[in-house]
Amino acid sequence: MNKTIIGALPGDHNLMNYSELVLNFNFEESIREFYGEAKEANISYHVLEKNISRGLGDKIALYYEGDERQESYTFSQLQRQVNKFANVLDKCGLGKGDRIALFLPRTPELYISFLGAVKKGLVVVPIFEAFMEDAVKERLLDSAAAALVTNADLLARVPKQELPELKTILLTKGGQYQGTLDWHSEVGMASSESGYCPVDREDPLFILYAAGADGQPKGLVHVHGCAPGLWVTANWVHDLKADDVYWCTADPGWITGIAYGFLAPWLHGVTVLVKGGRFDAARWCEVLQKYRVSVWYSAPTAFRMIIAAGKDTYGKYDLNRLRHILSVGEPLTEDVMQWSQAAFGIPIYDTWWMSETGMNMICNFRCLDIKLGSIGKPVPGIKAAVVDDLGNELPPYRIGNLAIKAGWPAMARDVWGNHQKYLEYFRLKPWFISGDAAYMDEDGYFYFQGRVDGIINTAGERVGPWEVEKKLKEHPAVKDAGVAGKPDKIRGEIVKAYIVLNQGFTWSENLAQELRNYVKTGLAAHASPRQFEVKESIPKTPDGKVDRKVLRGWALELGKR
Ligand code: WTA
Repeated sequence: MNKTIIGALPGDHNLMNYSELVLNFNFEESIREFYGEAKEANISYHVLEKNISRGLGDKIALYYEGDERQESYTFSQLQRQVNKFANVLDKCGLGKGDRIALFLPRTPELYISFLGAVKKGLVVVPIFEAFMEDAVKERLLDSAAAALVTNADLLARVPKQELPELKTILLTKGGQYQGTLDWHSEVGMASSESGYCPVDREDPLFILYAAGADGQPKGLVHVHGCAPGLWVTANWVHDLKADDVYWCTADPGWITGIAYGFLAPWLHGVTVLVKGGRFDAARWCEVLQKYRVSVWYSAPTAFRMIIAAGKDTYGKYDLNRLRHILSVGEPLTEDVMQWSQAAFGIPIYDTWWMSETGMNMICNFRCLDIKLGSIGKPVPGIKAAVVDDLGNELPPYRIGNLAIKAGWPAMARDVWGNHQKYLEYFRLKPWFISGDAAYMDEDGYFYFQGRVDGIINTAGERVGPWEVEKKLKEHPAVKDAGVAGKPDKIRGEIVKAYIVLNQGFTWSENLAQELRNYVKTGLAAHASPRQFEVKESIPKTPDGKVDRKVLRGWALELGKR
């Protein structure tokens, strides 16, 4: 099969000889190299003190560009803030193993709280800012979080009376309420010296809730020992160099915003940009120019929105510092690739991975040809395959389950409180079954072919159909509901809901709007169905679950072609 090929880039890349590394590399060695003599397992040491001890104390760690605030922190300044927050947690009686939820917009307080908590051995539970009451409550209850950092606006979505374990609430903004502490005055009063809580590499670092197809989101447990995996991929895939300014646009409510938003670049002592506020094509380009961003990690929907804003927008800015652009989360379409080549003279490097894998798995590399439409090749040290439903490896061009041989450093180690769910990923030993469909070509390049289950990917954000169905069915007008992803030119997929109405209700645009708001205010705006269709019944499998295959067929409008 002929695929358009974009040739390997000339130049000095961190990874120059892919095939040789694939043969010779194993993670054990890089783990030894990463931890070195120090053997300190706490990842906050590796992103702060290690850099400071290497003489990077005065280097900028974080540029923050918010709508109302612009700040910068050197590694030493960041370390002092982190220590202060760590001491606040001590004072509150919080310590190793306690869960602390961070429900915040992208602001410096979020990053400081994350590392301060980790330094004291607490386990961070990131909650995406756009989540509404049901989703927030579910995550706080399931993780039995003892502490929460949020702001006064977001606190309105936290049903405190229903969360008996939640003892400490720190607010970063918006005044104080009974039973809450002021983040800034507590941090202001605290000492800027703090020691580490000793942790093991296998101790939990954060619990990230990720949508599943048929059930509540799963709390994926990631451990301190993910660090060497992030370190290696930041080097080879992101090609990070000492003088780079790195901007990963993802929110730390999602895996990308944690793993590559700050942990991976800081493991290399690289300067990170964080932009607060909403997406805006012109502002994004302005920020790329202002901070002279050299490595940019974003998602196809964002690229498409910038393209849609037109050359009058992106063409106005001097973006020639950009030397490496990467993409994640959804299929990188050809139009986006062509745009990047024309606008910046460089291709975009696609990376495939998941919340479960914790680090980049299958990627395009600067030293290799890119085949358009392919997610690339496995990171050295990673064995990927396409397997059938019994776990047998399939030959090239056969579509099957995209699987990874278990045992890489950043792999999620458990599902919080539900080990059985975790084991389901490994039902076809020795494979981790991703839930994605794919095929491979004769050169070992992989091609993503959508989800096997019904998980929806809208604008790169992962939405569980079950959660949306549950919410819709709580509305008096809805007797039954089935939700699927419908292809969309800009967002990749949109959430489409098929509903059966209860007697006495008739369909109208007003009711559609009401249902949209109902999901939006209960669950999250990104999970709210953009389209509805009324049906007589929702197809079910013999065990009574929504038949996701039939629903997907409906959403693809297969019958209408
Ligand atoms: C999808 C995001 C196409 C895939 C890091 C996966 C992709 C899900 C790509 C994980 C890509 C991720 N091309 N699809 N390059 N990367 N996906 O957990 O379906 O939010 O299973 O992690 O996103 O989404 P998650």
